[in-house]
Amino acid sequence: MSGSAAVVAMTNVRRVYTSVDGDRFVAIEDLSLEVGEGEIVAIVGKTGCGKSTTFNLLLGLEAPTYGSIKVLGKDPYGDFDYFRSKFGVVFQTDRLLPWRTALQNATLGLEVLGYLESQQKEIARYWLEKLELGGFEEAYPHELSGGMRQRVAIARAFSMSPEILFADEAFGHLDQSTAKRLREVFLNLVAETKKTCLLITHNIHEAIEVGSRLIVLGKPSRVLYDVRTPVGVSRAQAADLEDRILTIIEANEVVQV
Ligand SMILES: Nc1ncnc2c1ncn2[C@@H]1O[C@H](COP(=O)(O)OP(=O)(O)OP(=O)(O)O)[C@@H](O)[C@H]1O
Ligand SMILES: [Mg+2]
Repeated sequence: MSGSAAVVAMTNVRRVYTSVDGDRFVAIEDLSLEVGEGEIVAIVGKTGCGKSTTFNLLLGLEAPTYGSIKVLGKDPYGDFDYFRSKFGVVFQTDRLLPWRTALQNATLGLEVLGYLESQQKEIARYWLEKLELGGFEEAYPHELSGGMRQRVAIARAFSMSPEILFADEAFGHLDQSTAKRLREVFLNLVAETKKTCLLITHNIHEAIEVGSRLIVLGKPSRVLYDVRTPVGVSRAQAADLEDRILTIIEANEVVQV
């Protein structure tokens, strides 16, 4: 972690869901982690281990059953309004509104924040251009490819000038080459704007490539392994790390470092 105060701090977080029949299900067992300003953290873990739940907690969409969560020093659930412009989120599906054009989709967050219409359009056009969608501002989602739609979703996230970017399997449903290209575009923008970024992926290879740091979660969620991923890692090193991470996920035991 960098020397500055943590942007994200989760301490002994537990999240238990209770069904209508009173059955309890532990989605997050005991999760503690800190993320510093400007870090790009890739999070991997088995399906159902609680990755998206972790994002929901950090986004203040739900509260932990136990433990403390601080984002930018505040409680994302209790201080929900404070965070309205602080988060940019890109999900697996683009979540565009089909009746709005690319430009109107990209202005959505700014509209909610009460920006003047002229400002909304100026900012959204800038980001659509950055995402190589200049000329497609008036296109509707059904007129765009999956990759282009995801670009609109990314433009929408950056338009808000958020402090933290969350990407939950954002490139998972695209073909491999489109995903690779879009991931590069996204990460270049993250680096250029010096944002803090948390990125969930099923693709361990992707996790090694993207992050400055990689966190492996167990099932149910707790940190099994937390490692810095070197820049310019060789293919052989990446393959070794990938094998190691797969073994850790399978063993589902905390690795002491
Ligand atoms: N609202 C809810 N009520 C009950 N159980 C839930 C709820 N939300 C999530 N869960 C359960 O909590 C566990 C963790 O879910 P979560 O969506 O966080 O997993 P995930 O790691 O994101 O999985 P995936 O990789 O498949 O996206 C799952 O078993 C899921 O069924
Ligand atoms: Mg998920």
